Amino acid sequence: MNIPAKLTRGLDVALDRLVLPGYTRIGPALRRGWWPADPASDALDGAVVAVTGANSGLGKATALGAARLGAQVRMLCRNVDRGRTARDEILRQVPGASLHVDECDLSDLAAVREVGAGLARQVPTLRALVHNAGVMPPERTETREGHELTLATHVLGPHILTDTLRGSLTADGDARVVFVSSGGMYTQPLDVEDPEFTRGTYTPTVAYARTKRMQVHLAEAWARELVVDRISAHSSHPGWADTPGVKTSLPGFSKVLGPLLRSAESGADTTVWLLAAPEGHDTTGLFWSDRAPRPTHHVSRPAPTAEQVRRLWRFCVETTGVPASAT
Ligand SMILES: NC(=O)c1ccc[n+]([C@@H]2O[C@H](COP(=O)([O-])OP(=O)(O)OC[C@H]3O[C@@H](n4cnc5c(N)ncnc54)[C@H](OP(=O)(O)O)[C@@H]3O)[C@@H](O)[C@H]2O)c1
Repeated sequence: MNIPAKLTRGLDVALDRLVLPGYTRIGPALRRGWWPADPASDALDGAVVAVTGANSGLGKATALGAARLGAQVRMLCRNVDRGRTARDEILRQVPGASLHVDECDLSDLAAVREVGAGLARQVPTLRALVHNAGVMPPERTETREGHELTLATHVLGPHILTDTLRGSLTADGDARVVFVSSGGMYTQPLDVEDPEFTRGTYTPTVAYARTKRMQVHLAEAWARELVVDRISAHSSHPGWADTPGVKTSLPGFSKVLGPLLRSAESGADTTVWLLAAPEGHDTTGLFWSDRAPRPTHHVSRPAPTAEQVRRLWRFCVETTGVPASAT
């Protein structure tokens, strides 16, 4: 059945603004009637794709999706044993896939530099880098380098890894970087006054949402930085998917929404689609869900100013020392 485009656009926006129908499995079930076509089955043939947090949930589903499109996947995992188990599971579904597990703790900035440099040597040409690793610690936790854990994992580690792999991404000529953010980021403004969450009462969902908000604007900043290298940068939100992370961090939410949650594969769909979408450069810097760009803020919470976004970028550059050209 051919549904008029005006009607599908209206329905698509309504699903997004009503949150529950758009974020649950109802969203993709309806939207696949009109969203952009699937990538060709060989869209990533021979391309190398790196995915962080690839041993579980959405990261594993992203690795699977990329492997199905022919990519060689570097699975960057904190827990290598779980990484190998995930790799074997993917291999059962995509026999012959090229999957390599690399140890990488995104919150350990010195380790990220080292792993990134090693990967850059081994992979001279990289099609895509997916910043998927995510955490929601129950208490404020500092890394051994003294950074708040969600900030280090979601923002500082990915910032360094993007810089370290820039040369390999540039060599591809059509590369993409995707930050897997969250719809939860709508609940928080961009906090550039206290990015390490040293003031006020720490709440896991607030720390999580603040750093997920930072990812969206960091992706915008990287999009501007990388445009000269023909690398696009995006952020995405997966909706609400049934993953080990959601079960552990939000048990009540997971129980109540149970059957309405998306599968991990459905949650990873837009990220995988972005890796192979043809118009990467025209749409760089946007925030995506269910294969469409979404607003980065709603009326109830104003958008950050350009100066606040610049301050986020300066904070990342000054804290990590990269990119050196921007210091
Ligand atoms: N599921 C959803 O509904 C949902 C909604 C919005 C956003 N997201 C985002 O989607 C991403 C994946 O989440 P998920 O639901 O798939 O959760 P998950 O099943 O808990 O997976 C999280 C992954 O991140 C890895 N990770 C955590 N800290 C790490 C670190 N320091 N270094 C390297 N890897 C690390 C975990 O590895 P270990 O095995 O070592 O713990 C695991 O592989 C996260 O960024 C999350 O914020 C998910």
